Amino acid sequence: MNAVTGHCTKVARNLHMERLRNHYLFPEFTRALSTPEGYRGYGAEQGNKELRKAIVKTFYGDLPVKDTEVFVSDGSQCDISRLQLLLGSNVTIAVQDPSFPAYIDSSVIIGQAGGFEDETGKYQNIVYMKCGPQNHFFPDLSNTLRTDVIFFCSPNNPTGHAASREQLEQLVEFAKENGSIIVYDSAYAAYITDESPQSIYEIPGGREVAIEISSVLQNCWVHLVSVLVGLWYLTSSYFQTGFLSYMTLIELCAPALTAMLSVVDYYKENANILAESFASLGLTVYGGVNAPYLWVHCPGLRSWDVFNEILEKTHIITVPGSGFGPGGEEFIRVTTFGHRETILEASTRLKSLVLV
Ligand SMILES: Cc1ncc(COP(=O)(O)O)c(C=O)c1O
Repeated sequence: MNAVTGHCTKVARNLHMERLRNHYLFPEFTRALSTPEGYRGYGAEQGNKELRKAIVKTFYGDLPVKDTEVFVSDGSQCDISRLQLLLGSNVTIAVQDPSFPAYIDSSVIIGQAGGFEDETGKYQNIVYMKCGPQNHFFPDLSNTLRTDVIFFCSPNNPTGHAASREQLEQLVEFAKENGSIIVYDSAYAAYITDESPQSIYEIPGGREVAIEISSVLQNCWVHLVSVLVGLWYLTSSYFQTGFLSYMTLIELCAPALTAMLSVVDYYKENANILAESFASLGLTVYGGVNAPYLWVHCPGLRSWDVFNEILEKTHIITVPGSGFGPGGEEFIRVTTFGHRETILEASTRLKSLVLV
């Protein structure tokens, strides 16, 4: 192969690209798209129409959600930031404390937040709604300041708590009274097995005030009713194989759903194994029932110290709870995403752990 350089530079092009074989994805794309018959142009920016219909049918069932309200995108994390861009720097936000860091980080980047206070571990201008065992992981809304936007995640990452219907009714009522938008992140809705709602749109009035960002094993859709949107994002390895075209995915919808739910069950069994191990150390374990995360309380200990100790003594990586906000102090988050043999090994090591 002779190296070919560009017109303006002396940098050789990578001719190895030409060695890629048919069974690999990109040459296939190139071949199809480079013919007049195969060329598709840009897809619909809101997402393939049939896919949006399939999402509504499969994931919203009887709820009055229209396919025109569902938007497909490349990820809920990206869309949290895009929503922030849409909302701008002048809006105020509230978050659960602890919560998934993307809400606060995007708020800081867009300029909604004030300075960081070392003493409290909080940014100014952000309302932190404490959610812990003492309040059943749901904020006391009678003491919560009004904000323009409320980020609310259920089942929550990191606590694993799925909000009850009654709690979500309170939240929707609160948003309606205050004229706020709820950005409802249900990334882990597929893990809910009790009667907790899987969508904010199950709650009367939810359609008026909420944008839903959802995910199935980190497959997300955003859905902003009355005003706008919805999005659907696919990243589980199963779905990635269906990325060839949206049509492929639609055809796969039913088996994909079955496959996804069996994976959910697998992780839940992991959760049982790990929860039992932490409980055997005398620690109180939350989550794991409706979520892929355990939230382990280590009273009187700093979360970074617990993280370090577990790492040094067992070589297991957990996540210090304080990384999710000051409300996460004294907790660690434990993921259940893992192969069974790894989880069993972790369980054996944990059982012999002595935390000081
Ligand atoms: C609560 C929550 N929302 C959204 C995301 C991001 O999902 P995506 O992979 O679609 O960007 C995550 C990923 O960890 C998450 O935990």
